[in-house]
Amino acid sequence: MYDIELIREDFPVLKDVIYFDNGATTQTPVQAVRAMEDYFFKYAANHGRGAHGLARQTTEHYENARETVARFLNAPEENTVFTRNTTESINLVAQGLQWEKGDHVITTLVEHHSNLLPWMRLREQGVEMTVVEPDDYGIVDPAKIEEAITNRTKVIAVTHISNVFGSVQDVESICKLAGENGILSVIDGAQSAGHTPVDFEKIGCDFFAAPGHKALLGPQGTGILCMKDPSIVKPLNIGGGAVTSVTTTSYELDRSPSRFEAGTPNIPGVIGLGRAVEYVEELGVENIESHEKKLAKKAAKGLAAIDGIKIYGPEDRAPVVPFNLNGMHPHDVALILDETRRICVRSGYHCAMPGIVHMGLEGTVRASFGPYNTSEEVELLIETMEEIALLI
Ligand SMILES: Cc1ncc(COP(=O)(O)O)c(C=O)c1O
Repeated sequence: MYDIELIREDFPVLKDVIYFDNGATTQTPVQAVRAMEDYFFKYAANHGRGAHGLARQTTEHYENARETVARFLNAPEENTVFTRNTTESINLVAQGLQWEKGDHVITTLVEHHSNLLPWMRLREQGVEMTVVEPDDYGIVDPAKIEEAITNRTKVIAVTHISNVFGSVQDVESICKLAGENGILSVIDGAQSAGHTPVDFEKIGCDFFAAPGHKALLGPQGTGILCMKDPSIVKPLNIGGGAVTSVTTTSYELDRSPSRFEAGTPNIPGVIGLGRAVEYVEELGVENIESHEKKLAKKAAKGLAAIDGIKIYGPEDRAPVVPFNLNGMHPHDVALILDETRRICVRSGYHCAMPGIVHMGLEGTVRASFGPYNTSEEVELLIETMEEIALLI
């Protein structure tokens, strides 16, 4: 059973605030914080580099976290790499593939900057980019992606769930299309992993990038990259921990995942992430999804009924509800929500400036929900917005 009151006890900060900024980052349950505390107080050492007991214990916990995350995403464990965040995961792919002048990338106008700029930067190497437009609800038609394919298209990079609209993309069709045309597919799972069941194998993508610090409830500074074939990607960094042998003139890279994790990784963060993912598994991602969808539906309906408020995105949405109040800047709305009721929402361009500008906007207010939010909290948001709307 999904016992929201019990769940909320695992997130002490929720006694003081209404946290609706889960699209940016989430709260971390005490269980995951305690796992990190155990690392610091009981066995802190480096990963994979020592014969002594503490190093072995650290390595075991770190690798257990990998096993948990890979199982959760149904991705091959040896091809599941820890990074700092989604942004680093996508950059790893964009920088790691071999490019030739004239190669072509397809992405979309609903992308977060983190799934746009790493591809845009490849222009320096002569790579061309097509940005496919979504419909008015932020949904990208796979047929439009198909139309954009050229004989030089090497990568199709698309977000799974839009952080601007809450729209869910048909990633399975897009990846199938990519595969049939010999094109690599990169899925930005920043807003999907942990909110909805994610199955790397079923999606059929070549790369799936995800944050540890959003719906997987892990700490900040953790990210994930799952790969189908890591041999086609050069590591972003090389150095200690990434090689099997070194002379003064040559080196041999270790296998994946070690070759992609040079240097001391975020050991406590990854251990915390592993425990956080177990926590998500305990709640059940399907339960989380249906709980959050109900909240999003209620928020969208209640807000849309207020005079002067416009909601964006599709009716069948992920737990992201963007809106604007006519006559008030999104930042002002967010400030008032915070100052009057300690309701935390995000406002502005949401790191998706081209998409927001394309909508003719200067930003939106975004309420995004997590597994610990309640229906009463949503009611308070609606009530407060009714009061704010009267100020105009
Ligand atoms: C769709 C999307 N992609 C990428 C990112 C960047 O994620 P990270 O902060 O983990 O790098 C975000 C963050 O909000 C996002 O919403």
